[in-house]
Amino acid sequence: MIAWDESLAVGVTEIDEQHQAIIRLINDLAARQGQAEEADAAKALAFLRAYLHDHFDLETELMLDLGYPELDAHRQQHELFANHVIFFEIEKEFGVVSEQMLADILVFLKEWFISHITQEDKALGEFVRVQAMSG
Ligand SMILES: [Fe+2]
Ligand SMILES: [Fe+2]
Repeated sequence: MIAWDESLAVGVTEIDEQHQAIIRLINDLAARQGQAEEADAAKALAFLRAYLHDHFDLETELMLDLGYPELDAHRQQHELFANHVIFFEIEKEFGVVSEQMLADILVFLKEWFISHITQEDKALGEFVRVQAMSG
């Protein structure tokens, strides 16, 4: 269970709202552990598929607008995330959705959240703040 607090805030409202949405997905999946069904996997993957567009596009546009120096490295991390989602989609397409797969998605999302959002996304938020103050 991940609880939202200010320490997780990037400081850009739209980004923070989307991060809160992924926390909700993580917590929903965690709550369903042990009783999850194929529908849960389909729902989670549909969410992640939409997230790739809505969320990463939003961050990328912001980075492009600001001439963010870490753009390439940040984008690479997003691509890594996208590749994981594709991997899960293929697994779902060709395999039987299992508890193990849902557990894998959950572990992946938690790790992603902890490392990417608390480091790269927060660094971006900091850059946005500094730019706003100097501009
Ligand atoms: Fe990001
Ligand atoms: Fe993000």
